[in-house]
Amino acid sequence: MTVGSELTRALLVSRSIELISTHQSPSGAYPASPTFSAYRGYAWLRDGAFIAEGMSRAGQADSATAFHAWCAEVIGVRAAQVDALIARADAGQELALADMLPTRFTLDGADGADQWWDHQLDGYGIWLWALERHAVRHGAPVPGPAVAVAVRYLSRFWDRPCYDWWEEHVDRRHVSTLGAIHAGLRAALALGVLDRADAHAAQVAVAGVTALVAGYGVAPAGHLRKWLDDGRPTADPATAPAVFHTAEVPGDAVDASLLACVYPFGLYPPGHPVATATVAAVQDQLARGYGVHRYLADTFYGGGRWILLAGLLGLNHAAAGRREEALRHLDWMAAQATPAGELPEQVSDVLLAPDRLGEWLERWGPVATPLLWSHGMYLILADELGVMS
Ligand code: BGC
Repeated sequence: MTVGSELTRALLVSRSIELISTHQSPSGAYPASPTFSAYRGYAWLRDGAFIAEGMSRAGQADSATAFHAWCAEVIGVRAAQVDALIARADAGQELALADMLPTRFTLDGADGADQWWDHQLDGYGIWLWALERHAVRHGAPVPGPAVAVAVRYLSRFWDRPCYDWWEEHVDRRHVSTLGAIHAGLRAALALGVLDRADAHAAQVAVAGVTALVAGYGVAPAGHLRKWLDDGRPTADPATAPAVFHTAEVPGDAVDASLLACVYPFGLYPPGHPVATATVAAVQDQLARGYGVHRYLADTFYGGGRWILLAGLLGLNHAAAGRREEALRHLDWMAAQATPAGELPEQVSDVLLAPDRLGEWLERWGPVATPLLWSHGMYLILADELGVMS
């Protein structure tokens, strides 16, 4: 069958829905990758929220609703932890990374006993964003109390350094994390379930993100930067668990996760000069063919091309009216599927750091396959392009 034919596109849509549905836990959680050694048994808010958006767009409303109910449960039961964190911060106490909410949870919603790169704030924002999208699209229930917990957490801690989307550089404040928080808080406000105090705090934080990124998050070349250039990283990396790697990254570098700040998060919406420059910089620096690297200094599994980032670049081309270009990304994604129709996390044919592949194969085994986030992003782009069926 020819890659790019409508039938091929539709087949991978069905296969993606099937894989995501099959692996969704009865709890509602989406495991990041059911087979991969380091991810097995865990669900991330970030991965899950994008997967839920894909399922919601694909008409799989019950699946997305179950995921959001799971999120509401895991976040809702941590209300007292959030209130205590806020009280301690208000009293001027130092908060350790380990005190903050988890990045990933076991499928039944526990913190899990395995070491991971906590803490990360973006997932809480991406959850709120995906929840609002799903509620608007399908009239799905909105768990007001859990939304309020996430909003209080983000509104109080949005400007702390934390690990980025790739579990790296804990001493920095990452622009794509801030973009996710901005989108999440705006979504929560749009849901109309917040009381006055929470709504006010969310508005203040949204304005804070806007100002901080405008002031310190735009490189001289006019595109968003990987992290803020404000000269005040505050977390001590020495107290953090071992990082994925220690590559030095120039501050002005782009990271492909910045694409989300344009579309779908709209921190700088398509058409804004910063948005245009950001998409162009990612395209120029990180796209090889239709696949996309995370960032130039990436060494994880040798720094291959990520399927989900091809989807994010495709979405941005679509949002800017470049439909043909977006379709090429969709077809490239589909062409990376295994014979069983499973999409990996990344492909290793074009590597930024080929000599670093072996150590990861030895440590964690073959690249995560299937990665449900890759399938979720395929569904989102397929829907955006109107090729769902
Ligand atoms: C990536 C994260 C992702 C996680 C689970 C990690 O390798 O850095 O972005 O959330 O895998 O898919």
